[in-house]
Amino acid sequence: MTSLLQPVTNSSPDATRHTRHATMAGVGVYLPEGLLTNADLEVMVETSDTWIMERTGIRTRHRAGSGETAAMMGVKAARRAMQMAGVDTVGAIICATCSPDTLMPAAACFIQRELGLVGMPCFDLNAACSGYVFGLNVANSLIQTGSIDSALVIASEAMTSLVDFTDRTTCVLFGDGAGAAVLKATDAPGIRATRWGADASRADIIYIGPKQDNEDSVDALRMRGSNTFRLAVDRMVAMGEELAAAAGWKVSEVDFFIPHQANQRIIEAVGKRLGVGLDKVIINVSEVGNTSAASIPLALGDAHLSGRLKRGDKVVCIAFGAGATWGGVAMEWQLDPPAATR
Ligand code: ACO
Repeated sequence: MTSLLQPVTNSSPDATRHTRHATMAGVGVYLPEGLLTNADLEVMVETSDTWIMERTGIRTRHRAGSGETAAMMGVKAARRAMQMAGVDTVGAIICATCSPDTLMPAAACFIQRELGLVGMPCFDLNAACSGYVFGLNVANSLIQTGSIDSALVIASEAMTSLVDFTDRTTCVLFGDGAGAAVLKATDAPGIRATRWGADASRADIIYIGPKQDNEDSVDALRMRGSNTFRLAVDRMVAMGEELAAAAGWKVSEVDFFIPHQANQRIIEAVGKRLGVGLDKVIINVSEVGNTSAASIPLALGDAHLSGRLKRGDKVVCIAFGAGATWGGVAMEWQLDPPAATR
């Protein structure tokens, strides 16, 4: 199949084309306390724990409570990332979200206000489930060109506010939460390669609106599940291979792939097609469901905080989402595991 990704135009690894680089200096996660279990969903729609577990691998999801907006959850993850990075300010605040508190001002502006910061550019970015890696792409480029020396990239989603809880085909999938990273300028990468892309001819597979067969239904998140499944696997596999090559690694040398957590079966299919064992794939979908843009930073944060990631590990994040959009980042992990896990 012809690659829709930006082609690798240079046979040398991407990172060798730049003298300035970005690295992740801190990560933070936040999950609301509220839980939505498969048993809760069995009461709301005609479904079963067995169907949900077999088709998706999702056991539970977190649900934001009153006042827990995308910005408010984002602030909590951002504070943790800034504390880990040891910084009290950054050069830009980017918030990836498709469920912002309001269309304007941006959630990133509310986050800036709550953090007590002023001056730096703050903006939201909507690439659905690919939003976090799009945010890393933007921040990495701004750091490489010298526009800024650091950035806070947050992905925060109140997905349960977009879901139609009478539509069993989607309401069992999504959850709320936030993840954040502080990127800092460094002499050596850090981030070794990035990719991103879109194909709007597939815009109809995931969208906010009425059901395709019922114009009178409420505007909510709708998805053509099986079409999305195939495309998500194809794109993430192609990107995983291309990112590893662009970073100068063989696929077999990558220590961890962190795919968008849409569905256990998608993640397993991606691992199989990449030819890597599931021990090399970070998976937390059973506990959090599909948290759209927040999915990869929540999985990455989990992997770091639990001590799975070690300094020097080769990590490849790959996302696919509405648009259709896709994106990814290959990076050498530069943080030591938390002391409590050593
Ligand atoms: N409980 C019980 N039955 C259900 C449920 C449910 N919750 N949902 C659907 N069904 C039924 C359907 O009605 C259908 O019944 P029918 O055969 O009588 O018509 C049957 O189960 C099979 O439905 P499918 O949609 O074919 O089920 P599938 O195995 O494809 O699983 C799923 C559906 C889980 C949505 C899967 O297709 C999937 O995960 N797709 C990809 C999601 C994804 O990648 N998203 C990424 C981006 S998300 C974003 O960007 C916001």
